[in-house]
Amino acid sequence: MTANDFIISAGAIATMDRSVPGQYGLVPNGSVLVRNGEVAWVGPTASIPKMHSRLPRHDHPQSLVTPLLIDCHTHIVSGGDRAREFELRLEGASYEEIARAGGGIVSTVKATREASEEELLENALKRADVLIGEGVGLVEIKSGYGLDTETELKMLRVARQVAERRPIRVTTSFLGAHAVPLEYADAPDRYIDEVCIPALKNAHSEGLVDCVDGFCEGIAFDKDQIARVFDVAKSLGLPVKLHAEQLSNLGGAKLAASYGAQSADHIEYLDEDGVMAMADAGTSAVVLPGAFYTLREAQVPPIDLIRKHKVPIAVATDCNPGSSPLTSLLLSMNMACMLFRLTPEEALRGTTSNAAKALGFSDTGQISIGKRADIAVWDVKTPAELSYRIGFNPLKTRIFGGQIA
Ligand code: NIG
Ligand code: FE
Repeated sequence: MTANDFIISAGAIATMDRSVPGQYGLVPNGSVLVRNGEVAWVGPTASIPKMHSRLPRHDHPQSLVTPLLIDCHTHIVSGGDRAREFELRLEGASYEEIARAGGGIVSTVKATREASEEELLENALKRADVLIGEGVGLVEIKSGYGLDTETELKMLRVARQVAERRPIRVTTSFLGAHAVPLEYADAPDRYIDEVCIPALKNAHSEGLVDCVDGFCEGIAFDKDQIARVFDVAKSLGLPVKLHAEQLSNLGGAKLAASYGAQSADHIEYLDEDGVMAMADAGTSAVVLPGAFYTLREAQVPPIDLIRKHKVPIAVATDCNPGSSPLTSLLLSMNMACMLFRLTPEEALRGTTSNAAKALGFSDTGQISIGKRADIAVWDVKTPAELSYRIGFNPLKTRIFGGQIA
């Protein structure tokens, strides 16, 4: 036993552990024993083993305990803002029109190239702080606003620094195949060969890449181009994921699944063939209601097909300056329920156990023996309240790897 061991007792524990029967793996009047930063025991408070009865106890009889949340798809490292683009869209321009006219992602590329590492970090920390304040303990951060080696590496270094400066874990995705930069405007293939792939190898050799992402879309890259990047990822032993089927169906999710992708994200235009390929490959579906909402999309991801084929669903903010200027994972959960008809249980799974799975993390996302003690205490009575309220943050206490904040 160490000085850092303690018990946390609550009105209910949503363990999100599938081996605990019932919705949310709920343990009413439950307790969690934290030892050496890990969960050492969880169960009804009335059954705490006698040998532990003298440990310090933190009692929250009116509160709910869940795993810390996980934001599995973000672009929180970026320069500038796109408020003007927001105005243009309200005047009738579409996301694709703005992108084709040199706005959109490439305008953030310009601002990100111009920003110093310190400026990017300062901005990323502001966003990370908001996520941390909402009980997030693990965040995925992408590059993809550099589109040259120097800036892609700069973004990834900043992403790594977020975890050094704040009590949050970061996992990075290299997103060199996000958009075609202006200097390669009519030569996407050359961009892939001359910039994207060398930048990936470079970033990997510096230990900056945990996963490789891409954007498969008419305004970005086609399947063959993405496949070339994924082949390199494979040769480097890196997992892949893909922004797929967001604005049209190019078969990106199926391609990603053929590489055993961790996830296919957005997926509004996904068809059953793609869903089945994902199911076979163990690829998760990451839904991003913030982008759907911001772009006023009409096509909803095929949630019923995803459920039918038992593809795990995760929910994320997609926090980025263009399509999803959203820094609230709780609001993303509400939006996933309201816009995509997820149940509140699916929404909470989508930001805990399923988000961990989508990122390839097995040590967090649920409260069970041996997992990291990543625990949130909320001032709510039931887990559904986390999705039900809008613009309300009921976080009371955040325990990150056994450390109480
Ligand atoms: O996830 N879909 C592509 N990429 C981002 C958008 C980035 C941007 O518009 O700046 C997304 O929505
Ligand atoms: Fe994204």
